[in-house]
Amino acid sequence: MKPPTQIVIDVLAGSLSPERDVSLRSGRRVADALRQLGATVIERDLDANTLHSWRTSPAECVVPLVHGAAGEDGALATLLEVLHLPFVGSESAACRLAFDKAVAKAHLGAWNIRTPAFVALPQTVFRELGASEVLAAVIDQLGLPLVVKPTRGGSAMGVSHVESSDQLPAAMMAAFAYSDTVLMERFIAGTELAICMLQDESGLRALPTISITPPGQLYDYDARYTAGLTQFTCPAALAPDHREAAVEAALAAHRAFGLQDWSRADLIVDNDGQPWILEVNAAPGMTETSLYPQALAAAGLDLGGTVLRLVQQAAERRVHR
Ligand SMILES: Nc1ncnc2c1ncn2[C@@H]1O[C@H](COP(=O)(O)OP(=O)(O)O)[C@@H](O)[C@H]1O
Ligand SMILES: [Mg+2]
Repeated sequence: MKPPTQIVIDVLAGSLSPERDVSLRSGRRVADALRQLGATVIERDLDANTLHSWRTSPAECVVPLVHGAAGEDGALATLLEVLHLPFVGSESAACRLAFDKAVAKAHLGAWNIRTPAFVALPQTVFRELGASEVLAAVIDQLGLPLVVKPTRGGSAMGVSHVESSDQLPAAMMAAFAYSDTVLMERFIAGTELAICMLQDESGLRALPTISITPPGQLYDYDARYTAGLTQFTCPAALAPDHREAAVEAALAAHRAFGLQDWSRADLIVDNDGQPWILEVNAAPGMTETSLYPQALAAAGLDLGGTVLRLVQQAAERRVHR
């Protein structure tokens, strides 16, 4: 087996996803970190030429950093599996379970992992049965306030905080811009947390917890990608036993989905200290303002070195397969 610095690494980013820009920034950051350690990196923008390139000249190892459906819903992982290319990150079956928020939340529920109460409905139901009746029934069930989001989204695109029923139609429209099915979820007041998971030769562990204080109600797109707008605290600003419960929930969710190598759980810890999992991301953001690199730094780990170890692990997995 080659040492990882001699493996040519394809850092895959971009695609036509709404999170294209974020992904390109993630890809650039990881590629730079790898090059600083002497690795040979090809930066690829996922497009119609990518498969042809790999079929004529197979990648030695792929690091997929495509966010959103294009990278995280399991289709890209399926293609990498079909092509027998070693890659860092989760296999297709796990991505499929974790990506779609309605599927993921049902799965978490089956594993007794706490996730906010929700209703998910496709656009056709609103059209065929009358939006106002459907929304009234949903509010009867969940109450207000709610968070409305696309089931297949990311970077808080199309996510709205809804305090009164007259705000719901606009929130639904915003969510339907990103996905055919909308998720209406009970709003949880408390502290938002990101828990980054790393699964390397020493097993699965949670990196130091980060609490997130955005300027508004939600950790939205601007709050994520405008440096200085959001306040991060690491370890999370919580009582140690509440932090511990959140870490246990995040680890349980990573395992329940069968994710591997890396992931990031987004949670809210409510004012009683109960953790509520919002989602687990199979391809966590790696931009300058992203949480995963912050968590690695807090653990005293170097981004490039960590990715190289995961590259080595992916190459070994392929040999065993
Ligand atoms: N149920 C909820 N209660 C409180 N805040 C929420 C809830 N759901 C989402 N949010 C807020 O919206 C943001 C985006 O939601 P999330 O489910 O993580 O979707 P995305 O895939 O877009 O990141 C979260 O980071 C959080 O700030
Ligand atoms: Mg999120």
